[in-house]
Amino acid sequence: MASLGDSNTVYSSVKDYYGKVLESSKDLKTSACTAGAAPHPVVRKIIGAIPSAVNDKFYGCGNPIPLGIEGKDVLDLGSGSGRDCYVAAALVGPNGSVTGVDMTDEQLQTARNNVDEFGKTLGYTPKLKFVTGYIEMLQQAGISSSSIDVCISNCVINLSPNKKLVLEGVYQALRTGGELYFSDVYADRQLPDSVRTHDVLLGECIGGALYTKEFEQMAENIGFARPRVLSVGHIAIHDPELKALVGDAKFYSITYRLFKVKESQAKSSAFVAEYLGTIEGHESKYELDVDYVLVKGEPTQVDAATASVLSSSWLARYFTVYPSEDTAVLDGLANISSTEKLMEQAYKADAGSSSSCCAPKNSPSGCCPPKNSSSGCCPPKEQESSGCCKPKQESSGCCKPKSNADTNEENKLDKLPSCGGGRCC
Ligand SMILES: C[S@@+](CC[C@H](N)C(=O)[O-])C[C@H]1O[C@@H](n2cnc3c(N)ncnc32)[C@H](O)[C@@H]1O
Repeated sequence: MASLGDSNTVYSSVKDYYGKVLESSKDLKTSACTAGAAPHPVVRKIIGAIPSAVNDKFYGCGNPIPLGIEGKDVLDLGSGSGRDCYVAAALVGPNGSVTGVDMTDEQLQTARNNVDEFGKTLGYTPKLKFVTGYIEMLQQAGISSSSIDVCISNCVINLSPNKKLVLEGVYQALRTGGELYFSDVYADRQLPDSVRTHDVLLGECIGGALYTKEFEQMAENIGFARPRVLSVGHIAIHDPELKALVGDAKFYSITYRLFKVKESQAKSSAFVAEYLGTIEGHESKYELDVDYVLVKGEPTQVDAATASVLSSSWLARYFTVYPSEDTAVLDGLANISSTEKLMEQAYKADAGSSSSCCAPKNSPSGCCPPKNSSSGCCPPKEQESSGCCKPKQESSGCCKPKSNADTNEENKLDKLPSCGGGRCC
């Protein structure tokens, strides 16, 4: 059992889990660490070019890598074997930089060992480094104040014994206009100590899950603009023993965007934003969050807070924003989706789907039935045998079996893991 209030015991429990207990994502007992939806095709293509040793140890629960970050300085909190850093290194190009911070030596070793090989694939030496450190102490890890444009993190902050310190450190490390864009595991309530201290639940990103309301309040108190939700998926716990332990608590993988901008609070001013269509991979529209999808060539009414984000964050180069004459639309703009409502919808979507998320071994298609789980994959062992995972990731509504590995780039794209780190599809 990890002990509450003692960071060192939490650190050693988590280090042990990621450094010694797990050898690859096949060893996970729940789908929490691999619950994310399919990455964007641009990202999938890059993942296909990353050394498999890195991909095999991917334990993320989402896709917290924004496109359009060319030339930017990126920090990854809890970078693990480095998959997201490798992707970010390809996206920032030779003029940007990527730094991964992690506390587990074994993970860092895998991350560092494959940088040279990846550089050969990229055709340039990426400014990509992995440093040993704690995400609660970024300065000590060598991350200077106001040095980062985009901070990403995938399924890590839940593991921290002091989440407030993490958010404060990120706020300090970000430049004005920077952003924390991250996926993590959240709970719909505060969790009892029996869940929070359970080694497996903790290690699998459930025990330390952040309570959404508490987290959102904490982020705003630190100075971030209103947290924006980009995606929500329900995480089902299949293991009967672990399920009994968590009781009625429900868990979600949520991707949030926290901008370090001064948000205008002027409720009476309306603005128009136009997306220029210049982000590779988002040529026709840009999804800022669940409420704002900006279509190229279609001026969109936005509230003052959103205008601040689009005109003064790192995204500003992709938008033009100007005041609107039409303030009549403001009432409608106030209807921002509540996170609770989004979680409820994700839960219902999951509950209404098929209970078995793996296709039978001999399924002719080798695919999961569609709509079977918005939360992620089957329990790892089932995934292994059937080779299936989260549905709706291919146009057919499911993933392809694992066995079709190929070296051809086009085919590689099709066979990429879409719900985890290479253990299925
Ligand atoms: C669930 S894994 C995710 C790894 C990586 N982000 C990925 O997507 O594959 C969690 C990682 O966070 C690291 N970690 C957890 N707590 C940390 C802390 N307080 N400081 C630094 N690293 C931490 C662990 O060592 C582990 O590599």
